[in-house]
Amino acid sequence: MGYDVTVNGIAHHITADEGTPLLWVLREQLNLTGTKFGCGIAACGACTVHIDGVATRSCSLPIESVGAQHVTTIEALSPPGAPPGTEHPVQAAWITAQVPQCGYCQSGMIMAAAALLAKNPQPTDADIDAEITNICRCGTYARIRRAIHAAAAPKLTPGHTPGLTPGSTIGGTAHG
Ligand code: FES
Ligand code: FES
Repeated sequence: MGYDVTVNGIAHHITADEGTPLLWVLREQLNLTGTKFGCGIAACGACTVHIDGVATRSCSLPIESVGAQHVTTIEALSPPGAPPGTEHPVQAAWITAQVPQCGYCQSGMIMAAAALLAKNPQPTDADIDAEITNICRCGTYARIRRAIHAAAAPKLTPGHTPGLTPGSTIGGTAHG
């Protein structure tokens, strides 16, 4: 079957069997491999992309369900070739907080965080825990929360990154 999909602002006509998960179209046909496969059953969030701005698990979204909605992947969260310092605020905060460990879950986490901040610019820890149900086997949850708060901050005061209090240790514990 043929399907028209718009991914990262570019229209594509792809051929795939009905029921093919969007994830495999992204990875295998469009070579957008930043979106990861983890569980394949909508449980882990490694495959999270935005569908019209909403965080969506692409492993469980059949290609025929995408329709005219716009798909955004991690590759287009920041403008292409964005120089350091001009990344999407979530990606910039991730770098500052040195969130990733092995990194496998992180593109999904970043996409989930960006979607959360778009609808809730100042989430509480409870909001973050309720909305971001992605799984990180390395246990980076505390750094993820810290980075989301930093990305949410309206202004960064020189010498102080909100969410990263002076003297705080990033990654100081096994669950840090
Ligand atoms: S691979 Fe999609 S939720 Fe785990
Ligand atoms: S950083 Fe390793 S799974 Fe999350």
